[in-house]
Amino acid sequence: MGIGANDDAAVYRLSDDTALIQTVDFFTPVVDDPFLFGQIAAANALSDVYAMGGRPLLAMNIAAFPCQFSDIFTEVFRGGALKIEEAGAILVGGHSLEDKEPKYGLSVTGLVHPDRVITNGNAKAGDALVLTKPLGFGVLATALKQGILTETKISGPIAEALRLNEAASQAMIELGADACTDVSGFGFLGHLEEMLIASGVAAQISASAIPVWSRALKLAQDGCIPGGTVRNRAFFGERITYATPAAEDLDDILFDPQTSGGLLIAIASGKADGLISVLNKADIKSAAVIGEITAQEPGFIEVS
Ligand code: CO
Ligand code: CO
Ligand code: CO
Repeated sequence: MGIGANDDAAVYRLSDDTALIQTVDFFTPVVDDPFLFGQIAAANALSDVYAMGGRPLLAMNIAAFPCQFSDIFTEVFRGGALKIEEAGAILVGGHSLEDKEPKYGLSVTGLVHPDRVITNGNAKAGDALVLTKPLGFGVLATALKQGILTETKISGPIAEALRLNEAASQAMIELGADACTDVSGFGFLGHLEEMLIASGVAAQISASAIPVWSRALKLAQDGCIPGGTVRNRAFFGERITYATPAAEDLDDILFDPQTSGGLLIAIASGKADGLISVLNKADIKSAAVIGEITAQEPGFIEVS
Protein backbone atom coordinates (compact mmCIF):
# COMPACT_ATOMS: atom_id res chain seq x y z
CA MET A 1 0.00 0.00 0.00
CA GLY A 2 1.66 3.21 -1.09
CA ILE A 3 1.23 6.66 -2.61
CA GLY A 4 -2.10 5.96 -4.31
CA ALA A 5 -3.90 4.96 -1.12
CA ASN A 6 -3.81 8.40 0.64
CA ASP A 7 -3.37 6.51 3.88
CA ASP A 8 -1.24 7.46 6.91
CA ALA A 9 1.73 5.28 5.98
CA ALA A 10 3.02 2.82 3.40
CA VAL A 11 2.65 -0.89 4.19
CA TYR A 12 4.81 -3.62 2.63
CA ARG A 13 4.16 -7.32 3.19
CA LEU A 14 7.39 -9.14 4.05
CA SER A 15 5.87 -12.55 4.80
CA ASP A 16 2.52 -14.13 5.70
CA ASP A 17 2.72 -12.80 9.23
CA THR A 18 4.81 -9.64 8.98
CA ALA A 19 4.33 -6.35 7.14
CA LEU A 20 6.51 -3.26 7.32
CA ILE A 21 5.00 0.18 7.96
CA GLN A 22 6.97 3.19 6.73
CA THR A 23 6.24 6.86 7.36
CA VAL A 24 7.91 10.27 7.72
CA ASP A 25 6.76 13.55 9.24
CA PHE A 26 8.60 16.77 10.15
CA PHE A 27 7.67 20.41 10.55
CA THR A 28 8.54 23.81 12.01
CA PRO A 29 8.15 24.44 15.78
CA VAL A 30 4.59 24.60 17.12
CA VAL A 31 5.70 25.63 20.64
CA ASP A 32 8.63 27.72 21.92
CA ASP A 33 10.04 25.17 24.37
CA PRO A 34 12.48 22.97 22.39
CA PHE A 35 12.07 19.94 24.69
CA LEU A 36 8.28 20.05 24.28
CA PHE A 37 8.58 20.62 20.52
CA GLY A 38 10.76 17.51 20.20
CA GLN A 39 8.21 15.44 22.10
CA ILE A 40 5.25 16.72 20.08
CA ALA A 41 7.01 16.24 16.72
CA ALA A 42 8.02 12.68 17.64
CA ALA A 43 4.55 11.78 18.98
CA ASN A 44 3.11 13.13 15.73
CA ALA A 45 5.47 11.09 13.52
CA LEU A 46 4.89 7.90 15.52
CA SER A 47 1.14 8.43 15.27
CA ASP A 48 0.92 7.32 11.63
CA VAL A 49 2.14 3.86 12.66
CA TYR A 50 -0.49 3.69 15.43
CA ALA A 51 -3.19 4.82 12.96
CA MET A 52 -2.39 1.76 10.82
CA GLY A 53 -2.78 -0.57 13.82
CA GLY A 54 0.98 -1.20 13.97
CA ARG A 55 3.77 -0.80 16.49
CA PRO A 56 6.84 1.39 15.92
CA LEU A 57 10.16 -0.44 15.65
CA LEU A 58 12.84 2.00 14.44
CA ALA A 59 13.02 5.79 14.24
CA MET A 60 15.45 8.22 12.60
CA ASN A 61 15.72 11.94 13.33
CA ILE A 62 15.26 14.49 10.54
CA ALA A 63 16.39 17.96 11.55
CA ALA A 64 17.28 21.32 10.05
CA PHE A 65 18.37 24.34 12.11
CA PRO A 66 20.63 27.42 12.10
CA CYS A 67 24.16 26.81 13.47
CA GLN A 68 23.59 29.01 16.52
CA PHE A 69 20.63 26.77 17.51
CA SER A 70 22.71 23.63 18.08
CA ASP A 71 22.35 23.82 21.89
CA ILE A 72 18.61 24.36 21.57
CA PHE A 73 18.36 21.39 19.22
CA THR A 74 20.02 19.14 21.78
CA GLU A 75 16.79 19.70 23.75
CA VAL A 76 14.63 18.98 20.69
CA PHE A 77 16.46 15.68 20.13
CA ARG A 78 16.15 14.85 23.84
CA GLY A 79 12.38 15.34 23.62
CA GLY A 80 12.15 13.17 20.52
CA ALA A 81 14.26 10.42 22.09
CA LEU A 82 12.02 10.39 25.16
CA LYS A 83 8.92 9.69 23.05
CA ILE A 84 10.70 7.10 20.89
CA GLU A 85 11.70 5.25 24.06
CA GLU A 86 8.19 5.54 25.50
CA ALA A 87 6.88 3.99 22.26
CA GLY A 88 9.24 1.03 22.71
CA ALA A 89 11.02 1.91 19.46
CA ILE A 90 14.75 2.38 18.90
CA LEU A 91 16.42 5.56 17.69
CA VAL A 92 18.91 4.34 15.10
CA GLY A 93 20.27 7.52 13.52
CA GLY A 94 19.16 10.40 11.41
CA HIS A 95 20.31 13.34 9.38
CA SER A 96 20.51 17.07 10.03
CA LEU A 97 21.47 20.08 7.97
CA GLU A 98 21.81 23.81 8.36
CA ASP A 99 18.74 25.85 7.56
CA LYS A 100 17.37 29.28 8.46
CA GLU A 101 14.07 27.89 9.73
CA PRO A 102 14.23 25.09 12.31
CA LYS A 103 12.46 21.84 11.49
CA TYR A 104 12.28 18.48 13.22
CA GLY A 105 10.58 15.14 12.84
CA LEU A 106 11.10 11.42 12.39
CA SER A 107 11.09 8.73 9.81
CA VAL A 108 9.49 5.71 11.51
CA THR A 109 9.49 2.04 10.58
CA GLY A 110 6.84 -0.13 12.20
CA LEU A 111 5.49 -3.65 12.08
CA VAL A 112 1.98 -5.04 11.72
CA HIS A 113 0.41 -8.39 10.88
CA PRO A 114 -0.64 -8.09 7.21
CA ASP A 115 -4.18 -9.31 8.05
CA ARG A 116 -4.56 -6.78 10.84
CA VAL A 117 -3.63 -3.56 9.04
CA ILE A 118 -6.26 -0.91 9.85
CA THR A 119 -6.53 1.26 6.75
CA ASN A 120 -8.61 4.39 6.19
CA GLY A 121 -10.53 2.56 3.45
CA ASN A 122 -12.78 0.13 5.26
CA ALA A 123 -15.35 2.31 7.06
CA LYS A 124 -18.87 0.88 6.70
CA ALA A 125 -22.29 2.53 6.61
CA GLY A 126 -23.72 2.38 10.13
CA ASP A 127 -20.30 2.57 11.82
CA ALA A 128 -19.86 5.03 14.67
CA LEU A 129 -17.07 7.60 14.39
CA VAL A 130 -14.88 8.10 17.46
CA LEU A 131 -12.36 10.93 17.97
CA THR A 132 -9.74 10.54 20.72
CA LYS A 133 -8.31 14.07 21.22
CA PRO A 134 -9.90 17.55 21.25
CA LEU A 135 -9.51 19.83 18.20
CA GLY A 136 -8.01 23.32 18.08
CA PHE A 137 -4.27 22.85 18.62
CA GLY A 138 -3.49 24.64 15.33
CA VAL A 139 -5.24 27.78 16.59
CA LEU A 140 -3.39 27.59 19.92
CA ALA A 141 0.00 27.16 18.18
CA THR A 142 -0.80 30.18 15.99
CA ALA A 143 -1.69 32.23 19.08
CA LEU A 144 1.66 31.20 20.65
CA LYS A 145 3.51 32.39 17.53
CA GLN A 146 1.62 35.70 17.62
CA GLY A 147 2.47 36.17 21.30
CA ILE A 148 -1.21 36.18 22.32
CA LEU A 149 -0.64 33.15 24.54
CA THR A 150 2.13 31.58 26.59
CA GLU A 151 2.73 27.86 26.94
CA THR A 152 1.82 27.87 30.63
CA LYS A 153 -1.75 28.90 29.67
CA ILE A 154 -2.20 25.84 27.46
CA SER A 155 -0.48 23.11 29.45
CA GLY A 156 -3.55 20.87 29.00
CA PRO A 157 -3.53 20.97 25.18
CA ILE A 158 0.28 20.60 25.12
CA ALA A 159 0.08 17.53 27.38
CA GLU A 160 -2.46 16.08 24.96
CA ALA A 161 -0.30 16.89 21.89
CA LEU A 162 2.72 15.09 23.29
CA ARG A 163 0.65 12.06 24.33
CA LEU A 164 1.30 9.02 22.13
CA ASN A 165 -1.67 7.53 20.28
CA GLU A 166 -0.41 4.12 21.41
CA ALA A 167 -3.13 3.38 23.99
CA ALA A 168 -5.85 4.61 21.61
CA SER A 169 -4.47 2.33 18.91
CA GLN A 170 -4.38 -0.67 21.25
CA ALA A 171 -7.99 0.02 22.24
CA MET A 172 -9.23 0.12 18.65
CA ILE A 173 -7.30 -3.06 17.79
CA GLU A 174 -8.78 -4.80 20.85
CA LEU A 175 -12.33 -3.77 19.95
CA GLY A 176 -11.93 -4.46 16.21
CA ALA A 177 -12.13 -1.09 14.43
CA ASP A 178 -13.05 -1.04 10.73
CA ALA A 179 -10.98 1.99 9.70
CA CYS A 180 -8.72 4.62 11.22
CA THR A 181 -6.67 7.70 10.43
CA ASP A 182 -5.00 10.27 12.65
CA VAL A 183 -6.08 13.89 12.56
CA SER A 184 -3.16 16.09 11.50
CA GLY A 185 -2.44 18.77 8.89
CA PHE A 186 -5.64 18.45 6.82
CA GLY A 187 -7.80 19.02 9.90
CA PHE A 188 -10.67 16.88 11.16
CA LEU A 189 -12.83 17.32 8.04
CA GLY A 190 -9.93 16.81 5.61
CA HIS A 191 -8.84 13.53 7.14
CA LEU A 192 -12.44 12.37 7.53
CA GLU A 193 -13.13 13.16 3.87
CA GLU A 194 -10.09 11.09 2.82
CA MET A 195 -11.37 8.18 4.89
CA LEU A 196 -14.84 8.48 3.36
CA ILE A 197 -13.57 8.62 -0.22
CA ALA A 198 -11.22 5.67 0.36
CA SER A 199 -14.13 3.71 1.91
CA GLY A 200 -16.83 4.77 -0.59
CA VAL A 201 -19.13 6.11 2.15
CA ALA A 202 -20.36 9.41 3.65
CA ALA A 203 -20.74 10.75 7.20
CA GLN A 204 -23.13 12.58 9.48
CA ILE A 205 -21.32 14.57 12.17
CA SER A 206 -22.76 15.99 15.37
CA ALA A 207 -20.97 19.31 15.99
CA SER A 208 -21.93 19.47 19.66
CA ALA A 209 -20.35 16.06 20.33
CA ILE A 210 -16.91 17.07 19.03
CA PRO A 211 -14.32 17.69 21.77
CA VAL A 212 -12.77 21.17 21.26
CA TRP A 213 -10.29 23.20 23.33
CA SER A 214 -12.51 26.05 24.55
CA ARG A 215 -9.66 28.58 24.40
CA ALA A 216 -9.11 27.67 20.73
CA LEU A 217 -12.77 28.19 19.95
CA LYS A 218 -12.68 31.68 21.44
CA LEU A 219 -9.41 32.60 19.67
CA ALA A 220 -10.78 31.36 16.33
CA GLN A 221 -13.89 33.49 16.81
CA ASP A 222 -11.53 36.45 17.31
CA GLY A 223 -9.86 35.65 13.97
CA CYS A 224 -6.76 33.78 15.17
CA ILE A 225 -6.69 31.17 12.40
CA PRO A 226 -3.70 29.36 10.88
CA GLY A 227 -3.11 29.64 7.12
CA GLY A 228 -3.59 25.88 6.82
CA THR A 229 -7.26 26.22 7.80
CA VAL A 230 -7.96 28.33 4.71
CA ARG A 231 -6.10 25.88 2.44
CA ASN A 232 -7.92 22.91 3.97
CA ARG A 233 -11.31 24.54 3.42
CA ALA A 234 -10.42 25.40 -0.20
CA PHE A 235 -9.33 21.81 -0.86
CA PHE A 236 -11.91 19.80 1.13
CA GLY A 237 -14.80 22.24 1.60
CA GLU A 238 -16.94 21.34 -1.40
CA ARG A 239 -18.31 18.14 0.06
CA ILE A 240 -19.21 19.67 3.44
CA THR A 241 -22.70 20.94 4.31
CA TYR A 242 -23.82 22.51 7.58
CA ALA A 243 -27.37 21.84 8.74
CA THR A 244 -27.43 24.58 11.38
CA PRO A 245 -25.76 27.98 11.95
CA ALA A 246 -24.33 26.63 15.24
CA ALA A 247 -22.63 23.79 13.32
CA GLU A 248 -21.24 26.24 10.76
CA ASP A 249 -19.74 28.33 13.59
CA LEU A 250 -17.40 25.41 14.26
CA ASP A 251 -16.06 25.45 10.67
CA ASP A 252 -12.67 27.02 11.53
CA ILE A 253 -12.06 24.39 14.21
CA LEU A 254 -13.18 21.48 12.03
CA PHE A 255 -10.62 22.50 9.37
CA ASP A 256 -7.94 23.46 11.92
CA PRO A 257 -4.64 21.69 11.09
CA GLN A 258 -3.69 19.54 14.08
CA THR A 259 -0.19 18.61 15.16
CA SER A 260 -0.18 15.24 16.88
CA GLY A 261 -3.99 15.09 16.88
CA GLY A 262 -6.05 12.10 17.95
CA LEU A 263 -7.16 9.01 16.12
CA LEU A 264 -10.38 9.13 14.11
CA ILE A 265 -11.85 5.63 14.28
CA ALA A 266 -14.75 4.00 12.44
CA ILE A 267 -16.14 1.06 14.39
CA ALA A 268 -19.36 -1.02 14.32
CA SER A 269 -21.93 1.02 16.30
CA GLY A 270 -22.53 -1.82 18.77
CA LYS A 271 -18.85 -1.67 19.80
CA ALA A 272 -18.59 2.11 20.16
CA ASP A 273 -19.56 2.33 23.85
CA GLY A 274 -17.09 -0.44 24.62
CA LEU A 275 -14.34 1.45 22.80
CA ILE A 276 -15.10 4.68 24.70
CA SER A 277 -14.95 2.87 28.02
CA VAL A 278 -11.60 1.19 27.16
CA LEU A 279 -10.28 4.62 26.05
CA ASN A 280 -11.51 6.24 29.26
CA LYS A 281 -9.80 3.54 31.31
CA ALA A 282 -6.57 4.36 29.44
CA ASP A 283 -7.04 7.96 30.68
CA ILE A 284 -8.17 9.19 27.24
CA LYS A 285 -10.94 11.24 28.82
CA SER A 286 -12.06 13.42 25.91
CA ALA A 287 -12.70 10.51 23.52
CA ALA A 288 -16.21 10.76 22.10
CA VAL A 289 -18.58 9.34 19.51
CA ILE A 290 -18.90 12.31 17.15
CA GLY A 291 -21.00 10.94 14.30
CA GLU A 292 -21.74 8.02 12.05
CA ILE A 293 -20.90 6.63 8.63
CA THR A 294 -23.77 6.71 6.11
CA ALA A 295 -24.38 5.26 2.65
CA GLN A 296 -24.81 8.69 1.00
CA GLU A 297 -22.62 9.92 -1.84
CA PRO A 298 -18.96 9.00 -1.09
CA GLY A 299 -16.89 11.70 0.58
CA PHE A 300 -19.83 13.90 1.57
CA ILE A 301 -20.14 15.15 5.15
CA GLU A 302 -23.14 16.75 6.83
CA VAL A 303 -22.44 18.55 10.09
CA SER A 304 -25.51 19.25 12.24
CO1 CO B 1 -1.62 10.45 9.46
CO1 CO C 1 1.65 11.95 8.84
CO1 CO D 1 23.35 11.42 6.36
